[in-house]
Amino acid sequence: MNKPEIRKAGVIGWPVAHSLSPLIHRTWAAREGADISYERIPVEPNDEAFAEKIGQLRVEGYRGVNVTIPHKEHALKIADSASATARAVGAANMLTFSDDELLADNSDVEGFAAALRAADPEAGKCATALILGAGGAAKGVLYALKERLGARRVIISNRTKARAETLDAEVADWSARNTAAADADIIVNTTSLGMTGNPPLDFHCSGLKPGAVVFDIVYSPLETPLLTAAKARGLRTVDGLEMLMRQAVPGYRAWLGTKADVDADLRARLEAALKGGAR
Ligand code: ATR
Repeated sequence: MNKPEIRKAGVIGWPVAHSLSPLIHRTWAAREGADISYERIPVEPNDEAFAEKIGQLRVEGYRGVNVTIPHKEHALKIADSASATARAVGAANMLTFSDDELLADNSDVEGFAAALRAADPEAGKCATALILGAGGAAKGVLYALKERLGARRVIISNRTKARAETLDAEVADWSARNTAAADADIIVNTTSLGMTGNPPLDFHCSGLKPGAVVFDIVYSPLETPLLTAAKARGLRTVDGLEMLMRQAVPGYRAWLGTKADVDADLRARLEAALKGGAR
């Protein structure tokens, strides 16, 4: 009997050396005894190099790849077809190699929505949300809040106001972000502020509604100064790891195996890796 072929996938980005995606996929595969490989694939920020690498991975029999910064927009452009979500957001974090097609999808949207629902199943419904930032990540969060979670009102505050104005939401001046937050049921940081090596986000949780949920999509550090301040006020918080684990589920199921549970054991492994353990 022939040995079944190893199912191959990976994560492609720059930099990608610290990606936690291999640990997530390998954990799920080990649990169900699936024979897989999931590798980090560094490709510099160059559209041609990206397209060339994708072609090479197809020839090598890869089933698909997760795509991360800075290639998400280009991944959508080179695909033969794309999901409605990827098209609406303008970016793809999944490329699936089918026999004759390259399919683009976006699971960041569902990853964000599912992480928020895990904290509160009713979160988002008819809610007012404030998004800090207006980059690629903010677009996915905006789409999730409006199209998946049923938010009634979304306000975006970004340092560069003109960038916020290109999105389909209310805009608040960056200097007025704390005032805008007073009405919000959900506050989401999509900026890189608070990430290890960057300055903290200057934001006051004292004026927030008592029932507000504060979501930081940053996961390094796991508890950003924003989340520490929100917890100190007794507010509910969601960190970036909750979103990271959930965005990985569709890729694993499409390419590698069947059972992809997001649970305390997976989270503990990722936390240990963030604290300096093996990735
Ligand atoms: P991503 O795809 O991860 O969203 P991005 O498109 O580079 O990355 O967006 C980064 C976001 O962080 C932007 O909203 C950016 O604000 P600008 O549009 O004004 O650049 C925000 N950001 C980065 N550094 C910042 C800083 N020092 N102060 C305020 N906002 C900052």
